[in-house]
Amino acid sequence: MATSIISLSNPIFILIITALFLLLSVYIYNKPQKKGKTTKKYHPVGGTKFHQFIHFRRLHHYCTDLARKYKTYRIYSPHNSEIYTTDPANVEYILRTNFDNYGKGSFMNHTLKDLLGDGIFTVDGDEWREQRKVSSHEFSKKVLRDFSGVVFTENTIKVGNILSKAASSNQTVDITDLFMKSTTDSIFKVAFGIDFDNISGSNEKGARFCRAFDDANELVLRRFFDLSWKIQKFFNIGPEAELKKNIKVIDDIIYKLIQTKIEKMREGNDDTLLKKQDLLSRFLQIKDIDQKYVRDIVVTFVLAGKDPIATSLYWFIYMLCKHPQIQDKVAKEIKEATNMSMKELEITDVAEFATRVTEEALDKMQYLHAALTETIRLYPALSMIMATSIVSLSNPIFILIITALFLLLSVYIYNQPQKKGKTTKKYHPVGGTKFHQFIHFRRLHHYCTDLARKYKTYRIYSPHNSEIYTTDPANVEYILRTNFDNYGKGSFMNHTLKDLLGDGIFTVDGDEWREQRKVSSHEFSKKVLRDFSGVVFTENTIKVGNILSKASNSNQTVDITDLFMKSTTDSIFKVAFGIDFDNISGSNEKGARFCRAFDDANELVLRRFFDLSWKIQKFFNIGPEAELKKNIKVIDDIIYKLIQTKIEKMREGNDDTLLKKQDLLSRFLQIKDIDQKYVRDIVVTFVLAGKDPIATSLYWFIYMLCKHPQIQDKVAKEIKEATNMSMKELEITDVAEFATRVTEEALDKMQYLHAALTETIRLYPALSMDPKTCFSDDVLPDGGFVKKGEVVVYMPYAMGRMTFIWGDDALEFKPERWLDENGVFHPASPFKFTAFQAGPRTCMGRDFAYRQMKIFSSILLGCFAFKLSDESKIPHYRTMINLQMDGPLHISVSKRYGADKSESNNGKDLI
Ligand code: HEM
Repeated sequence: MATSIISLSNPIFILIITALFLLLSVYIYNKPQKKGKTTKKYHPVGGTKFHQFIHFRRLHHYCTDLARKYKTYRIYSPHNSEIYTTDPANVEYILRTNFDNYGKGSFMNHTLKDLLGDGIFTVDGDEWREQRKVSSHEFSKKVLRDFSGVVFTENTIKVGNILSKAASSNQTVDITDLFMKSTTDSIFKVAFGIDFDNISGSNEKGARFCRAFDDANELVLRRFFDLSWKIQKFFNIGPEAELKKNIKVIDDIIYKLIQTKIEKMREGNDDTLLKKQDLLSRFLQIKDIDQKYVRDIVVTFVLAGKDPIATSLYWFIYMLCKHPQIQDKVAKEIKEATNMSMKELEITDVAEFATRVTEEALDKMQYLHAALTETIRLYPALSMIMATSIVSLSNPIFILIITALFLLLSVYIYNQPQKKGKTTKKYHPVGGTKFHQFIHFRRLHHYCTDLARKYKTYRIYSPHNSEIYTTDPANVEYILRTNFDNYGKGSFMNHTLKDLLGDGIFTVDGDEWREQRKVSSHEFSKKVLRDFSGVVFTENTIKVGNILSKASNSNQTVDITDLFMKSTTDSIFKVAFGIDFDNISGSNEKGARFCRAFDDANELVLRRFFDLSWKIQKFFNIGPEAELKKNIKVIDDIIYKLIQTKIEKMREGNDDTLLKKQDLLSRFLQIKDIDQKYVRDIVVTFVLAGKDPIATSLYWFIYMLCKHPQIQDKVAKEIKEATNMSMKELEITDVAEFATRVTEEALDKMQYLHAALTETIRLYPALSMDPKTCFSDDVLPDGGFVKKGEVVVYMPYAMGRMTFIWGDDALEFKPERWLDENGVFHPASPFKFTAFQAGPRTCMGRDFAYRQMKIFSSILLGCFAFKLSDESKIPHYRTMINLQMDGPLHISVSKRYGADKSESNNGKDLI
């Protein structure tokens, strides 16, 4: 991942870009001042578009913080200044007093027109006034009000029935998805008079329409963030080609519907149509109305009403869960308003209860109304008029200039060496630019994999340097082994990571790296470390097992991403520092502070790969860089104190554990004449290298086993046999007891488990991309030229999905591919299976990681069967250095031998 920004992070380049950006912003912003009066008052400057971009993921927090400082402020942008306000007087002025002077403008119209046509969202002035009149007239009609009431009730009953089933079977439900489906069904029914039935998925045409509608919605909104959409539209490529297709699906269906409705209305043989209850039928009855005009109005209403209702509702439920007293108060009011207290015995199902929710009852629910309003005050569906904040960047001329400059610069810089060198050089095909990677950032690994299917190796243009992305094992072997000395971390990696990792093994090359590798390998190969880490892993896995055991007894689901991360963090810290940080129970306050500082520092240092301005922030000690400095201080204070204590105790010789020198810190400290800073750097590097990859690999592994229950059973069977469960299972009463059976010998027997873990890591490698800087001009085995200073990125994620490496079943989860005819694990070439890197810099912790993963999974899978709490959930990754899951993964567990009791353990539960 790092590479994708590497070239952009050259400090000189950043400074030039930032200076140009600011100069341009200030210059353009100041232009009108020269023309107008000099006495004009300007709002204070809150920041620039650049700052908004940096804070994009927490944009509303960022804007709120600024608003606390200034009620109204400006944001500089190269094209136009933007004013952000929270001042009610200003709001009243732009929305009412001087209404005619503020509107959607041509930007909104151009961006939304393809989907919404000339609907009310895209127009101003008289056109808007006319539509508002027509629509208000229809919206005020009783028939529409009654019809929508029936539709909402019907769809709420469907949701109620789903919740009812979940309650009976003690299952959890993702309400974001459920509410979205239900409100979508409602709004479509009210708009078109047709059941699209998203909630059960029974109407194929309806589902197609909804998919096209949702996709078109997303693709059209995407235009606000994608500076190049007009160019893509012109060439009918990428997301714009997709959008066009989706709009065609929508239009074909709507116009057919309009035709059918008009015919039926003419024939007068359809009762529902004659009642003209839905929006489409209502608008169609207006004299001389244009079909396109009706289509635009209806589509606009659907778009306007669909998502805001669902989002408000699930934030509302979230707030009620967070405030149970308020939830009780709302429920009490509903009970009273529906006269539940008197007749409640009669209520047997949701539909029956719904009959009591009359107009009169709804009117009585004032507290509910207030609670909904309070939710929307805190979580307004439209948090900002986003359009404005992007307006300036999306001006077509600005986009064209920026894109053209970008491409020209890229091509110019890339072509420079060709002029100097031989003209016969062969270059890898161009896959795209940094700009494309940026657009596809959220699905970057998919994007890179798709390109790799087309070209095994390709270039990505960047204004500063070209980058080479490869999945070709021959190229990988060349850079990682054959010409190893010519490829390394380079000064970029060193500068970016040095503040946290110092001169640890991750940041250095050449002799410095060789020296550290020697010292560390020596320590890592020692039996004492191996034994100690085994004990630590087992202890921490038992803690996880006990938590799962409780969850299984109380039928609760568990988010394993969080649980596994805490457990492996505890293990790696214990092995590194010899101290229990006890993240899993949170009992050690100092430990918790250290872990927080470590995690924050890790995230803040990784952020540098994506934040072009970090060096400037560091120079001024502001923003995330100031945070990073503080966190590093916490880490260093604790580590150096620990080092001091250890050295003193070792000198005094009065601490048995320390004398045994089991943890990494103690081990390194015993080396003669070793520098304390050197030891600190090595240990911190090991923690960073080992912490997240193990946890991420383990939760992807459990996810894969849940998706493939036969494989889970097979793994469990092997564990049972390897631990001799079949003979002595009656003795097993708890997780800790089971863990005693997971001996070295038992672990060695678990070849299928080893294969299943490896198969997971093939498809979900913790490090999905790994960049190497080229130190002098070179030619790769496929003939492609690499210039000094360019970066070659090998891609374990994409490589795991290439059919030319793994065969046609590359995408399938098949542990068997790793076993020989005797069922023994058979490794693949490390230049094909690159998840642990290969060559002299192969991961030093690989065996260590396998041991931990095998101890962890054999104890847990020996005791529990795992099941996804939501089978339909497809987890996505976050584009980070490590392949973390985006969001939690909720799992339900059952005790594996509880189910077995009838056959072999005479009714005794395992745990
Ligand atoms: C599933 C778990 C793991 C995976 C997938 C993994 C993967 C990798 C990869 C891809 C590299 C190369 C990174 C680079 O370009 O510098 C690496 C290096 C390294 N790993 Fe791991 N790792 C894992 C666990 C661990 C653990 C548990 C430790 C130690 C406690 C560890 C220690 C190291 C070290 C010290 C290096 C640097 C080697 C060098 O530069 O010579 N790793 N690992």
